[in-house]
Formats: sequence, C-alpha cells, structure tokens
Amino acid sequence: MKYTVVLPAAGSGKRMKADKNKLLLELFGKPIFIYTLEVFQRDPNCESIWLAVKEQEQPLIEELVEEYGITKVAGFAAGGAERQDSVRACLEMIPACDVVLVHDAARPFIEPAVISRLAEEAAASGAAIAGVRVKDTIKKAGSDIITETVERENLWIIQTPQAFDYALIKKAATAAFEAGYMGTDEAMLVERLGHPVKIIESNYENVKMTTPDDLIYGRAILESRVQEEQE
Ligand code: CTP
Ligand code: MG
Repeated sequence: MKYTVVLPAAGSGKRMKADKNKLLLELFGKPIFIYTLEVFQRDPNCESIWLAVKEQEQPLIEELVEEYGITKVAGFAAGGAERQDSVRACLEMIPACDVVLVHDAARPFIEPAVISRLAEEAAASGAAIAGVRVKDTIKKAGSDIITETVERENLWIIQTPQAFDYALIKKAATAAFEAGYMGTDEAMLVERLGHPVKIIESNYENVKMTTPDDLIYGRAILESRVQEEQE
C-alpha cells in the first residue's frame, strides 16, 4: 500500500540533555534523523516525506537531507510548540492521498515489515498504530504507596508509526485543534471521534531516542544489524 509519511522533527530533545536537537546527534557518524529518513527513502511504498522542523534548523536539515541523498523529501512545515502542532502543520501541507503515516523522526529503527502492515491496515479500516506488549509488572501509585497493580494482559506500549486514512486524520486533527484538545499521540485524536484504532504488534527495537541511555541501545542495535548483514 502506498503512503505519504509525516515526520515531526521539531523538538528540542530536553530529556537527552545534549544542548541541541537530539535528532542531530550522531550514531556512528550519521545523524539520528537520517537513519529514519533512509528507511522511508528505501521503501518503494513511500511516495513522499514531509518534515516538521524548527525554522532555525531548516537550513542545516535541508543540507543533511541533500548530503545523504534523501530525494523523497517533498516539503518542510514549521514545527510548533507541541508535537501535535508540528504534526498538524505537516498535515496542512500534504496533498490528498490514501494513507498517511505519522512517525517520530526520533525512532530510527523502524522495520519496513511493520510499516507495510500499518499502511495495509489503515487502508482497510482507517487507523492502525504500532505497539509492543508491556514486559514489566505495572503498578499505580498516587504517592509512593501502591494503589493498584494493573492487569498486564491488556497493556500496550504505543509507538509510531501511526497510520491513517487521509480524510480521517485530517478530520481528527482539525476537530482536536478546534476543541483545543491535546493528545499524546495521533490515535487519541481519532479515538475521540469514536473511530476504532487497531494495534499492530511491532518490536522493541523501534525505540524512541529519548534519554542518553537510549543512545547506548541504539548503537547496539546498529552493531547487531551490521553483524547480521555480514553473516
Ligand atoms: N517534536 C516536534 N515538535 C515538537 C516536539 C517534538 O516535531 N514541538 C518531534 C521530535 O523532534 C521527535 C518527536 O516529535 O522526533 C517525538 O518527540 P520527543 O521524543 O518528545 O522529542 P523532543 O520533544 O525533542 O524531546 P523532549 O520531549 O525530551 O524535549
Ligand atoms: Mg517532547
């Protein structure tokens, strides 16, 4: 299934404590967001890539996009204060299409097989998001006293990509904006409209580079992939 991808890249990476946008940090000499872009550049089903960026970072990002031969970038939207604002800015720019994927530029290890399944499901039912099962025991605590141990069976850690029918995500984003509603992912905006959202089981490697320890994991993933290629 063909799709258009929207990549929010306009954050500041505060939790990474790098004093700059974490997406510009390098893993083995290549900026994190370039790894993400390369996945979509290589996927024949990806028709175009739209990036939300900070105005002052756009020249550098454009330069890197060119340097690494990413030819599918079709446009840059001005990033907003919150991730949802950045995504909305992209959604306002993209031309009408069948399926739209929203993917954090900070998740460079997404696998093409998961992308395909998401795009297929979004085309069939309107909305599909990537997730993995919770591995740990989860408890709720108001202070430091447990109030509840949550049944793990039904718990998912939600990731991106999140894939949607174009008209549906446009409608959901506009409705959220008009209501002043902020969600922590795109699916929440669609759930609000009462539309079912399907979870596609992804994998734990699709981690978001968020805190410094994620970089250690990120390097390990890249090393193991290189090793697999050599075997
Ligand atoms: N993002 C964005 N616009 C924002 C905030 C975030 O486009 N106003 C993007 C980030 O660049 C990242 C993705 O959304 O690719 C996921 O956000 P997150 O991991 O929270 O990144 P940051 O907001 O940059 O990090 P932090 O929250 O630690 O500051
Ligand atoms: Mg953030």
